[in-house]
Amino acid sequence: MSAALEAEGLHTFYGKSHILHGVSLRAAEGKITTLLGRNGAGKTTTLRSLMGLTPAREGRITVFGMDTTAWPAFRIAALGVGYVPEGRRVFANLTVEENLKVPRERQGPWTFARIYQLFPRLAERKLHRGRQLSGGEQEMLAIARALLLNPRLLILDEPSQGLAPLVVREVFRIVAEMRREGISVLLVEQNARMSLEIADQAYVLDDGRVVYSGAARELAADAARVKALAGASAEEWTHGTAGS
Ligand SMILES: Nc1ncnc2c1ncn2[C@@H]1O[C@H](COP(=O)(O)OP(=O)(O)O)[C@@H](O)[C@H]1O
Ligand SMILES: [Mg+2]
Repeated sequence: MSAALEAEGLHTFYGKSHILHGVSLRAAEGKITTLLGRNGAGKTTTLRSLMGLTPAREGRITVFGMDTTAWPAFRIAALGVGYVPEGRRVFANLTVEENLKVPRERQGPWTFARIYQLFPRLAERKLHRGRQLSGGEQEMLAIARALLLNPRLLILDEPSQGLAPLVVREVFRIVAEMRREGISVLLVEQNARMSLEIADQAYVLDDGRVVYSGAARELAADAARVKALAGASAEEWTHGTAGS
C-alpha cells in the first residue's frame, strides 16, 4: 500500500537538546496511524518535524511521494496536509463561522454545509465566539477548520486532551469517519485504548525513539505491553473507563 507520509531517521533538536533519535514511521494512505507514548516522549516534536515547523537536522520525509524534507510548513500544507496542533488554537474573539473562514480554501468535497452536518453542535453555535465554546466544541472547531482545507492527510495532536469521556467518544467517532471519507490520518494520542480501537497501525515513542511499530490490533490485544510501552498514556486502559 502506498504511503501518505513516510519519515526516515529523523533527528531533531531544540537548541542543544537532542530530542528525536532517528525516528522512522509511515502513514499508509486511507488508514489511521496512531503515535502513542508517555508525556515528553517526543510526539509533538515528531509532528512539528513532519510539518517543517521544527525541521529535523537529519533524516528524510516524503509526503505523497514528494521529498518534503527541507520544505517550509505552508508548502507541506499545500500538498493537502491538515495539521491540528495541541491545545486547539481557535480564535477566541471570532465566531465559529468566522473561525471557519480563516483557512484558505482548497477545492474538494468539504464545504460549510457538510461541516455543519458532521458537527451539528457547531451549526447550533455558528454565531458564538471561540471563547464561549466548551473544550469539546473548540476541538471540533479546530478539526472542522482543518477539514475545510480538504486535506488528503490529517495530522491530529492529542485531540482528546482534557475532554469529558462522552466528548472523547464523539471526537474518535469523527476521526474514524475521516477514514471512511478516504482521508489518511496520523493521530497522536495519550488515550491508548481508544486510539488502538480505531487505528490500523500503531507506533509507540519513548524518549525520542520508536519502541513499537505494528498492527494496532496486535498491540491492543496485549494490555500489559501497552502499559509498559506507553506508560501513563495507558492509564485509561487499566482503569477501563474510556471504553465504557
Ligand atoms: N520548545 C522546546 N524547547 C526545548 N525543549 C522542548 C521544547 N518543546 C519540547 N521540549 C522537550 O522535548 C521533549 C519532547 O517533548 P514533546 O515532543 O512535546 O513530547 P510529547 O508531545 O510526547 O509530550 C520533552 O523533553 C520536552 O521537554
Ligand atoms: Mg505533545
